[in-house]
Amino acid sequence: MNRRLITSALPYVNNIPHLGNLIQMLSADVFARFCRSRGYQTMYVCGTDEYGTATETKALEEKKTPRELCDYYFKQHDEIYKWFDIAFDKFGRTSNEQCTQITQEIFLDLDKNGFIKEHPNKQLFCNHCNMFLADRFVRGICPKCGYEDARGDQCEKCGSLLDPVELKEPRCSTCSNTPEVRETKHLYIDLPAISPNLDKWMIKASKDGRWSENAIKITKAWIRDGLNERAITRDLKWGIPVPKPGYEDKVFYVWFDAPIGYISITKQLADELKASGKPSFDYKTWWLPEESSAPSAKEPVDLFQFIGKDNIPFHTVVFPCSLIGSGHNWTKLYHMSSTEYLNYEDGKFSKSKGVGVFGSDAKDSGIKADAWRFYIFYNRPEKQDCQFTWKEFREKYNSELIGNLGNLVNRTLLFVTKYYEGKIPDAPADEEMWGKVRDLEAKITENLEWANLKDAFHQI
Ligand code: MF3
Ligand code: ZN
Repeated sequence: MNRRLITSALPYVNNIPHLGNLIQMLSADVFARFCRSRGYQTMYVCGTDEYGTATETKALEEKKTPRELCDYYFKQHDEIYKWFDIAFDKFGRTSNEQCTQITQEIFLDLDKNGFIKEHPNKQLFCNHCNMFLADRFVRGICPKCGYEDARGDQCEKCGSLLDPVELKEPRCSTCSNTPEVRETKHLYIDLPAISPNLDKWMIKASKDGRWSENAIKITKAWIRDGLNERAITRDLKWGIPVPKPGYEDKVFYVWFDAPIGYISITKQLADELKASGKPSFDYKTWWLPEESSAPSAKEPVDLFQFIGKDNIPFHTVVFPCSLIGSGHNWTKLYHMSSTEYLNYEDGKFSKSKGVGVFGSDAKDSGIKADAWRFYIFYNRPEKQDCQFTWKEFREKYNSELIGNLGNLVNRTLLFVTKYYEGKIPDAPADEEMWGKVRDLEAKITENLEWANLKDAFHQI
């Protein structure tokens, strides 16, 4: 049996998570529990994505250091996921030393292999705020689809990844003034040079790992349209230092280090176990088995990643390119479970606009975590967008969870207690019925094996 390495998208630290984020963690949690119960050796890691502009700006606003801000919000995240009963092997952080170390190593490998390029760069500078505006802090018209409120790094409407200077009519999202273009220099990862190897890997991996349709479609479109070099440095303070002369005032772009967080959080767990005198393990048995001497490293690892569809290209193109370009045989994506959107009542969940159900609301609602877990699953946006409504939540909770499943369990136990003194009697098995049960069980198991969680749940 292959080992199973499971991740869910690392949530941005600087906000209280909402149900849209929780879907990924819950999905991976259900899948991890299934894998453990089937006897797979399983590792489920997640953690907060802490670096970048958003954190640095919010810290300024709240008159805290970025570290203080992250400490505060990390605790909020941690408590909410504990309340939801998510059984991570580790919920860590990207601001740990392990992430710095592994990110810098991967960067140095890429550089050594010739995949890092330096370019002078035109960047939007806001005179009013007196700073370079990184990615998310510019809004404007999407050059691809014309959407008027596109973010500098990605258009939320058409999903294209963007460079902020491509936006038409750009504006500073802090003060709304029009920024000006200024010269600086940055480091780029040479995705076009890695592309042939990515293509080879992707063709096999998407088939072996049965990627979802949306993942294959988006990835192929990316490769077909030709990959561009992507900047991996930013003019910020809150980030991982770039180990290269001339880059003392810059840090890595958060999307370069965040996925490496999956690796570093595994190492964080190993290091913490070791420091507390508990039995530990070599993180490389999971992530770089070829370079680990641990006996378990001989058993193959399948990496299952749970994300929202707006994160697909980062997990199927950008991150695999970093790993491939490093020249080491890192564990790469096997199966991707990428969900569509969960909408709230008749609108969209939005952290910035405060629309939706937040983890803390769920916790304070007086409704038990299991009821939330039930409805989020029942309504998981697995293959199409779904809608969260309070009305349906109540209806499904009453009719499905209590009326059907709860009643079945309750009556069965009651019956056994009342008439059979609490012991299941040795009755002759109804072979025909058991045949049906086993057929269904096999179908449900097959669905669970491929993380078709919603189908499996409805069959159950
Ligand atoms: N923080 C990102 C988001 O919420 C997801 C990061 S996933 C990782 O959209 F791959 F970078 F870890
Ligand atoms: Zn500004």
